[in-house]
Amino acid sequence: MDSFRIIGGQPLFGQLTISGSKNAALPIIAASLLFKEKVTLTNIPELADIRTMIKLLNILGAETTFENNRLTIDPTDLRSDQAPYELVKTMRASIYVMGPLLATKGHTRVSFPGGCSLGVRPIDIHLKGFEKLGASIEVNGGDIVGKAKYLKGSEINLGFPSVGATCNLIMAAVLAKGITKMKNFAKEPEIWDLVEFLNRSGAKIMRKEEYIEIEGVEALSPIEYSVMPDRIELGTLGAAALITGGEIKLKWQHSDIISSFREKLEDMGHHVHLDEEEGIYTFKAGKMKGNIDVRTLPYPGFPTDLQPLLGVLLSLNKGTSHIHETIFENRFMWVPELERMGADIHKEGESIIINGVKTLQAAPIMASDIRAGASLVLAALAAKGETIIRRIYHIDRGYENLEKKLSSVGAKIFREKI
Ligand code: EPU
Repeated sequence: MDSFRIIGGQPLFGQLTISGSKNAALPIIAASLLFKEKVTLTNIPELADIRTMIKLLNILGAETTFENNRLTIDPTDLRSDQAPYELVKTMRASIYVMGPLLATKGHTRVSFPGGCSLGVRPIDIHLKGFEKLGASIEVNGGDIVGKAKYLKGSEINLGFPSVGATCNLIMAAVLAKGITKMKNFAKEPEIWDLVEFLNRSGAKIMRKEEYIEIEGVEALSPIEYSVMPDRIELGTLGAAALITGGEIKLKWQHSDIISSFREKLEDMGHHVHLDEEEGIYTFKAGKMKGNIDVRTLPYPGFPTDLQPLLGVLLSLNKGTSHIHETIFENRFMWVPELERMGADIHKEGESIIINGVKTLQAAPIMASDIRAGASLVLAALAAKGETIIRRIYHIDRGYENLEKKLSSVGAKIFREKI
């Protein structure tokens, strides 16, 4: 199994390019099942989760090629509508095939995703939405079986703005008969990337103030589409430079979609700036100020995916800071590992209280999920001594070439088999 060996204490300086967004690419790849022609996608990151989604499409019968971040998918000859347990258990986003398969085949059987390290994570909002669109849903032998003669437009109130349910239901509704109005939808930027891809391919999806309106169309005709850059990688690499006292420039050809994260970094005394014309985001370490309070929220609130990264920065900040996690019940798995490195953190329910310490010390530690793993990489980059991080397959699910990128800006990080 691969591990990272990281020798801390090297400030990071230089320039890097941000890869394509995992969480935009996953639903867009699944959306290729809505077409009757070959789909070409570019800027697709080389990641374990992307390979899992491609494998799932292959099991369904789609033919794919994936080289140099360019993915072609030919979904014209699907032979199956089943997403097996082996894949769904390794990646919950496998349920993204449900919407497109219900829309095009009228039948799908997807293994019921259980809980995961982030918590229970039910999918009731997806399923109620499919039922609203006219599908029947039942659980049989551990699988969710969805059936529909055809899907018909409807009014759907999500109740909570689930990212996954918003994407899945958009994909189900684009080919439905009539108009769908979706209230309490998620507003994460990755959703608008899916919408952009579908609209440029002939879908009729309109974003209104209070709801998304989807007018069903007969068929879609694909355009070649370049997936948006990854805002969570942007935040991660920026935070890596800050925690080491360095300065990094990150190529960013997109609008400012991490403002809630940037504002907290600025409150901490760091300098963070986006030059939209140049397409460069600069992160420069400043003199740390203390006492930061953060609450994770759906977009445009503070993203739960950047919570562990900010938490590690705060562990070395002056004063006492608070983080309240409202999206996932189990997103503080990085805390016990950081305590092993000398951090002073107390958990109270869904909150943590962080008393900043002067230094972190190297220790053997373990990644538990993608973002917890990345936050431990940051801690190790700042720590005194040599840290070994185990179970980095979690990190490989969501970061393209992380150690190569960090090495090229001065980090001492090595992938080893331990
Ligand atoms: N939820 C329900 N019922 C549902 C759906 C969600 O109760 O039917 C709950 C979940 O249990 C969770 C909360 O609602 O507590 C948020 O879930 P959501 O559906 O919004 O998240 P997701 O689609 O499962 C995506 C990202 C996550 C990211 C969250 C929140 C992908 C593939 N995953 O998950 O990314 O944290 O949105 O922004 O897009 C990651 O990249 O490391 C990651 C975990």
